[in-house]
Amino acid sequence: MKVAVVGGGGREHAIIRSLKKSPKVTEIYALPGNGGIAEDAVCVPIGAKELPEITEWCVKEGMDYVVVAPDDPLVLGLVDMLNEKGIPCFGPTKAAAIIEGSKAFSKDLMKKYGIPTAEYETFDDMEKALEYVKTCKIPVVIKADGLALGKGVIIADTREAAVDGIHTIMEERKFGASGDTVVIEEFLEGPEVSVLSFTDGKTVRPMVSSMDHKRAMDGDQGLNTGGMGTIAPNPYYTEKVAAECMEKIFLPTIRAMKEEGRTFKGCLYFGLMITKDGPKVIEYNSRFGDPETQVVLPLLEGDLFEIMQATTDGTLADVDFKFSSKSACCVVAASEGYPVSYQKGFEITLPENHENIFIAGSRLEDGKQLTNGGRVLGVTEIADTLSEAVDKAYETMKTVHFDNMYYRKDIGAKALEVK
Ligand code: AMP
Ligand code: GLY
Repeated sequence: MKVAVVGGGGREHAIIRSLKKSPKVTEIYALPGNGGIAEDAVCVPIGAKELPEITEWCVKEGMDYVVVAPDDPLVLGLVDMLNEKGIPCFGPTKAAAIIEGSKAFSKDLMKKYGIPTAEYETFDDMEKALEYVKTCKIPVVIKADGLALGKGVIIADTREAAVDGIHTIMEERKFGASGDTVVIEEFLEGPEVSVLSFTDGKTVRPMVSSMDHKRAMDGDQGLNTGGMGTIAPNPYYTEKVAAECMEKIFLPTIRAMKEEGRTFKGCLYFGLMITKDGPKVIEYNSRFGDPETQVVLPLLEGDLFEIMQATTDGTLADVDFKFSSKSACCVVAASEGYPVSYQKGFEITLPENHENIFIAGSRLEDGKQLTNGGRVLGVTEIADTLSEAVDKAYETMKTVHFDNMYYRKDIGAKALEVK
């Protein structure tokens, strides 16, 4: 089978490495991929948001299956365009990807179907939003409605900060049209858990749980980033919590989407907070998380391609797969200055065996890999215990180098305190 993967970050590298193990996959293409992915797939220089170009290329080159990994092309409807040309895909249609594309939609869905989440109000009128935060409970959370690279969330500890946040999103339009509408919601407390799941619209099969580390600096200080490291499994996701999530969140969400005529197929990502009143949904993503995927897929015992096809065909209940009982840790190395501004173009040195290093931002020049993004790579190690996996990942990180490199030194520390 000829398979194309749309996207070009660490997540896509992990997906491609996993797909390569499938005996059914004979050729893999990445659109656009990156300098590191080029070792594992044929990279084609078409950007993930160039929908007509991607569709035309996939038809011309006879792709048998397309994995759409990033949020933008999903929300814009790439799966629909490819399906119209008869090409099956992994990922939701535009109608279903709205669960990530609009926070107002996902909040209303949860309210309608009784799925536990933070209390909220939605505003498209700035004056009304300002009026609301005069009297609401503080701290309060203000979110731009649309996609904002995980950055359109402001946690306001004071009323003044809430007013500033509304101005930033709705007046200065820091997140563009994403901020035409804001969701203002109750501040929840508790540990966070990410659960990625496979679903064919009827059956939902959660993957091993994970924990992201979103802030740029140690001790959860600094700005929010796309994610600076992950561990799996997440110790807060006990069997009891998992059972409660399945009953009150996962199955009701899949049924709700079907009921709304927006059957969701692909990977549905549940961003959860384990509050004292039980697990609640912080956000849904319509895709694999980055860098969650870099710890989850290496623990998969099964054929990823077969599973993906089953989500498309509606036969997910019949596929045999499980997750290893080992632990994994992924530490992300970024360019100094990320997530704000940073330099690119520094040569990356990797150890000879780098099967466990996923490249997020690099390009090839004269056979050398040069840094080409904020997040540059992720080192993933697997071991019998989390503590060993963390140690191994930091050992391996010592063998990686590029100028202006930085990484958090405390990935997994919080999780290790739990046990
Ligand atoms: P989101 O993009 O919705 O996942 O939000 C980004 C981060 O903001 C989350 O991972 C949480 O750490 C935090 N956050 C979002 N919503 C809330 C909330 N209602 N209460 C507390 N923290 C939140
Ligand atoms: N790591 C969080 C995300 O992929 O949205």
